[in-house]
Amino acid sequence: MEIHFKTGCEGAEWQADCAIIPVFQDENPAHSVPGLARCFPWLGAGAGLRDFTGKKGELALLYSEADDPLSRALFTGLGRREGFAPRMLPEAVAVAVRRAAGLKLAGLLLPAEALWPLANETLSPDSLLAEALLGARLGAYVYKDCKSACGLEDIFTPSDLTLLFEREVPAAARLAALKAEALAKGMIFARDIINAPANIATPERMEAEAADLAARHGFKFSSHGPDWLQQQGLNAFLSVSLGSAREPRLLILEYTPPGAEQEAPVVLVGKGITFDSGGISLKPAEGMERMKRDMAGAGTVLGLFAALGGLLSIAGAARPRPVLGLMPCTENMPGGRASKPGDVVRTLSGKSVEIVNTDAEGRLILCDCLTLAQKISAPAAIIDIATLTGACVVALGQKAAGLFGNDRALIDKLLALSGNNGERMWPMPIWDEDLDTLKEQSSADFNNAGPREGGASFAALFLKQFIGRGIAWAHLDIAGPAFKSKAEPAAAGGASAFGLRTLWDFVTGESLWQPHSM
Ligand code: BES
Ligand code: MN
Ligand code: ZN
Repeated sequence: MEIHFKTGCEGAEWQADCAIIPVFQDENPAHSVPGLARCFPWLGAGAGLRDFTGKKGELALLYSEADDPLSRALFTGLGRREGFAPRMLPEAVAVAVRRAAGLKLAGLLLPAEALWPLANETLSPDSLLAEALLGARLGAYVYKDCKSACGLEDIFTPSDLTLLFEREVPAAARLAALKAEALAKGMIFARDIINAPANIATPERMEAEAADLAARHGFKFSSHGPDWLQQQGLNAFLSVSLGSAREPRLLILEYTPPGAEQEAPVVLVGKGITFDSGGISLKPAEGMERMKRDMAGAGTVLGLFAALGGLLSIAGAARPRPVLGLMPCTENMPGGRASKPGDVVRTLSGKSVEIVNTDAEGRLILCDCLTLAQKISAPAAIIDIATLTGACVVALGQKAAGLFGNDRALIDKLLALSGNNGERMWPMPIWDEDLDTLKEQSSADFNNAGPREGGASFAALFLKQFIGRGIAWAHLDIAGPAFKSKAEPAAAGGASAFGLRTLWDFVTGESLWQPHSM
């Protein structure tokens, strides 16, 4: 979907199949687009509005009678003005865009004037425009890389979105829209790679995607295979890859703004299990295909770099913080060389781990990368993001991520950002004294898994063993929100790229953040 900026209401310069107009419940819909309604009186008089109340999720489709440059309008309900929250706008826009896609309407129009009445103390007009654009872009998303011509027949994506301004396009609005567009593209990039099946999104494919991003945007990039992992001693990571016929890859992407070479980077570590069969501790067949998306963490970090690449090409946009991304990518498969329950590995940190369950593989690839991150950089913060435990989904539901860590200020910052952008994150505990449970009956320093009960906290406790003193660290368990099991009014099923927005807000945000250990 391409974004255009246009001015003027008459439509001399533009033509659109459908205008998308978000409106509050029980308010006169035409009043929210006075300029457009002056040019196209049917917007206020259409019979299609008779039963429309503007409830959340409700749509009214209107047609022009004359041969207007604008042929249709979709009013989309926001619910009551009193209950309005920022995330309701992108949702309402997405619902309308999905309806327009169903009608195979190619050219969409978003009148900026419809957004101005929604502004309040916390939501500026520019951020509303950004939200609406994100809603349109992400709402229109469907994964279609694996469809052939016949499969594509019933999938339609609108091709153009025109942002319409009455007179000139305000510079700040244009900048906000371009930034949102960079973020949307990064999220779509992430969704595509996360949704891709495991025979396509292999570790080598992840490597090629990272290399391509680096080449296009000038990021520093390196990629390491099994020999390097062995030489360096990332044995826990390597052990997970042994059952697979495909080689693992450790991908490292780095962005340093010019002049910020001395600034400590934000380190992002994303779990990149391109298929999680469970290994010798094999998973049940039912639903195993979903484990092609067990690289959502790495896909999200990759998508963040794609978004940053887009940001760098916007004239006048502020530079983000320095970012270092580590993406350990491998399959977790059974096989003659695969790790067996009871095997012991020496991690890069020197600590030994007994692999009591080969299905607790995410923490094994992550722990070595957490150690490596501290060896190769002096991180301002480390944030890892991983589809780590089913237990976290049981605890918090499909829509929320568990947020763990060792630094109150870092956790509070992430909570505040996610609270604003609609990504549900919830603080979860790490009980240090429960390390005894991971040590019980371990022939190594500790086991890679504890009891089922409290499984998300045990996974986080395991990871915490690899974080040095004074290093601010947060862990996002996105096993629930990384994928939607079915399509919703505002989003397709499959990968969501959950977490990318919060990471984006964290690395591009202006507000300062100071580490403060707990
Ligand atoms: N990738 C899974 C976790 C997962 C489950 C992600 C459901 C998305 C949806 C992870 O590698 C795993 O298998 N975890 C085990 C850990 C256990 C063996 C300690 C789990 O959650 O059962
Ligand atoms: Mn697993
Ligand atoms: Zn996994």
